[in-house]
Amino acid sequence: MPLRTPILAGNWKMHLGPSDTEAFFEAFLARHPERADGTVIFFPPSLSLAAALRAAAGRSDVRFGVQNLYHEPAGAFTGEVSAPIARDAGAEFALVGHSERRHVFGETVPETARKTRAALEADLLPILCVGETLVERRDGRAHAVVTDQLAGVLDGLPQADIGALLIAYEPVWAIGTGETASPQDAADMHHHIRTDLVRRVGDEAAAKIPILYGGSVKPDNAAELLGADQVDGVLVGGASLKPHDFAAICAAAY
Ligand code: 13P
Repeated sequence: MPLRTPILAGNWKMHLGPSDTEAFFEAFLARHPERADGTVIFFPPSLSLAAALRAAAGRSDVRFGVQNLYHEPAGAFTGEVSAPIARDAGAEFALVGHSERRHVFGETVPETARKTRAALEADLLPILCVGETLVERRDGRAHAVVTDQLAGVLDGLPQADIGALLIAYEPVWAIGTGETASPQDAADMHHHIRTDLVRRVGDEAAAKIPILYGGSVKPDNAAELLGADQVDGVLVGGASLKPHDFAAICAAAY
């Protein structure tokens, strides 16, 4: 499946229940005609996934994932959703290591690694999210932090599994703040991530791994960010909740 360019992903976080999901797709699909050369991936709340799949039935360019999962495949883990259950429910992707999981819910790097392996075992494609805080950037540690986040997950993975991943660079200071990384800063970090991937899996496999940018992507900055070197797509939070805005972001990719 040609996944590298462009990937337009919307992380709805804890927004849009099943009825709002239906209304969203009615408006969005009318504004975003099907394209063979682009993939749109939505991450609705788990309870809205069925409504989303129904609403987008017949659109092969629109695909779905879960925002989080638990690493065990099944068991007495009240409140959790496993990778096999997510796959069975129609998800093809899973966000892992999102900054809100790491910083709001205290998810550790080993937990992110376990979730990544669990997703791969269930045939879900993980989107591994990495990114530094403002303090880390100001201290000149942005590259080192991202390197460590990658190592914590990728060090234990066979090359073929690394090749199946997607990566999202989401600087924590740019998420939900209206601040974005400049296209130069995004390109610089994406290049850093690509170099790390080349070292692990070689040039050819690394070139196929999509690296998305996330953090206050909006219709008015999407074209510039999508045009930055090594940026293969975007992972959008707030603006993905508005059908007009997200359709405009998708249109900016072409
Ligand atoms: P915002 O686009 O709202 O900054 O969120 C980005 C994000 O966290 C996507 O996963």
